[in-house]
Amino acid sequence: MCSVVGYIGKNKSKAFVLEGLSRLEYRGYDSVGFACLSQENNTIVSAKAVGGLDNLTHMFTMAHIDGFLGIGHSRWATHGQPSESNAHPHFDCQKTVAIVHNGIIENYLSLKKDLELLGHVFYSDTDTEVIAHVFEALLVATSDMENKHKTLAQVVVSLVSRLTGAYAFMALVQGYPDTLILVRQRPPLCVGIGDNEMFVASDAFAFAGKTDKVFFLPEESFAFVKKNEIQLYDFAGNALPVHMQALDLSWQDSQKNEHEHFMLKEIYEQKAVIHKTIDSLQALHDTIWDYMGITAQQIRTLDHISFIGCGTSWHAARLAQFFFEQVCKMNSSVHLASEFRYMTFFPTQHKIHLAISQSGETADTLEALRVINAHTMPTVALTNVASSTIVREAGGFLLTQAGREIAVASTKAFSTQLAALYWLAHRIALEKGLIAQADMVQACADVIYAAQVLEASIEKYKHEISAYHARKYATYSKAIFLGRNSSYPFAMEAALKLKEIAYIFAQCYPAGELKHGPLALIDEHTPVFIFSHQDSLIYHKLLSNAQEVKARNGHVVAFVFEGQDEMCALADLYFVVPNVAPLLGQLAMTGLMQFFMYAIAKELGCPIDKPRNLAKSVTVE
Ligand code: AGP
Repeated sequence: MCSVVGYIGKNKSKAFVLEGLSRLEYRGYDSVGFACLSQENNTIVSAKAVGGLDNLTHMFTMAHIDGFLGIGHSRWATHGQPSESNAHPHFDCQKTVAIVHNGIIENYLSLKKDLELLGHVFYSDTDTEVIAHVFEALLVATSDMENKHKTLAQVVVSLVSRLTGAYAFMALVQGYPDTLILVRQRPPLCVGIGDNEMFVASDAFAFAGKTDKVFFLPEESFAFVKKNEIQLYDFAGNALPVHMQALDLSWQDSQKNEHEHFMLKEIYEQKAVIHKTIDSLQALHDTIWDYMGITAQQIRTLDHISFIGCGTSWHAARLAQFFFEQVCKMNSSVHLASEFRYMTFFPTQHKIHLAISQSGETADTLEALRVINAHTMPTVALTNVASSTIVREAGGFLLTQAGREIAVASTKAFSTQLAALYWLAHRIALEKGLIAQADMVQACADVIYAAQVLEASIEKYKHEISAYHARKYATYSKAIFLGRNSSYPFAMEAALKLKEIAYIFAQCYPAGELKHGPLALIDEHTPVFIFSHQDSLIYHKLLSNAQEVKARNGHVVAFVFEGQDEMCALADLYFVVPNVAPLLGQLAMTGLMQFFMYAIAKELGCPIDKPRNLAKSVTVE
């Protein structure tokens, strides 16, 4: 989840590289760096800083370096502490090669040991630095008599044959001032094609608005990018065709406008983008199976849906399970992508595998998808980024219309995932003849209404939360979250929000499990957040749990639905949400939950959009 950005062309590179890094800073931000070929003497000049981009741009050195070929990097540390020496770019001994890298070189220690025996000197603890030294060793080898006819492509083929792991890197090489070298195995790399200039980055968002043509490097390929040409090769050195695509990414929707944080802006965008998502899916109505890469016949005989995801996307999957089981009368399973890869995979018929990923770049989810693809089983991606890797690698896809989600903590991606999955459950049920067209129309209306309740509930409580409750609950160092049935994965999502933006330890349990041990944790110092359910039986079970907590001097914050007065009477603090369609209660409650967690983090003065240790897109395993 680092960001790499590069430029080669008619203009100087620094301005674009720094702007591109600032656009992608959500992917990692513990240290930054820039390098370019100086025009004066064709040497590599560079600057690096710990912390965010501002620390780099304000460096004295930066004022004096620029060039027509440049690369930059913002880091999320995998190997080596965040420090100036570990910041990218990394160099070879002679500083004739500069590398910026996203990924992990898994065999770097053995490579480093061999290179040190050859006399190479290392200055960092990173895995990335070995790439520069291997490159140097190969370039030196080709300069001696018997190898001097080796081409740069042959050098890169030798280079990648030595590397193990997942890597997307760019290289400046002093001897090749007209070429930006790109290498990709797993994490994405793309090229924006300009007029006598090329913009290169981990994510096309870096050059949104600068060009309408983009090229995505295929898996296991490398490219020599010149200001008006791309030469592409596979890892065996065979030339490959370059397939450009249209790029319709706008940069405009990425401003905070009147909001203090992107997260707050994105919380408030939910009603509109849920509506937009439903409208876009309804517009696909009859062609939906083509997009998903499956046939109507396969849908009619479908009897199992298997979800895969991480973090919030996994929570959405866990919640959606209830949609498919109750609407499609279908068995379902949900897997954490990071666990799925190491489980035994049993290919079975009449099953589809739905990978959920907001970014479409999460390494764990992509690797799990590749396991399924290897068994030629049907895979479908549900993602928010049409230009993402997961769209290119899954058998088919569905898109949420949340718009670019900048804040690391996922909000509108979550609610649009729920909306899309609720719609899909009904569309499959319609195809199977389990519901009528009128039910499909009603389902869409129910989602739209739940989205209205989502926003209205924030408006109803935002003042008292901001003025009183956030201050009170910001004083706790830990909390317990409880839910049952579909409110359990919702409680997990709430706990994750509090953890990742307020850094408060938040443990989530299925409420029924409380009495099997966790009840021992209940005391007046640990607030218990209980997320109710519209189903009467489940609600009364949750009421019993709240009574268990109160009987032990616990403190209850209850998120309930209208009419659940007993819970309100019992709770120390409660919020009431209007009733909606039975399966959409959690969607309706989403905005209020997110706003409360946001307000607590804001009260604590946390860097909400870019929390410590995290990154928006986890493109390493
Ligand atoms: C959620 O707030 C986090 N940002 C994180 O858990 C995220 O949901 C997870 O990394 C999965 O990301 P994806 O949806 O882009 O695959």
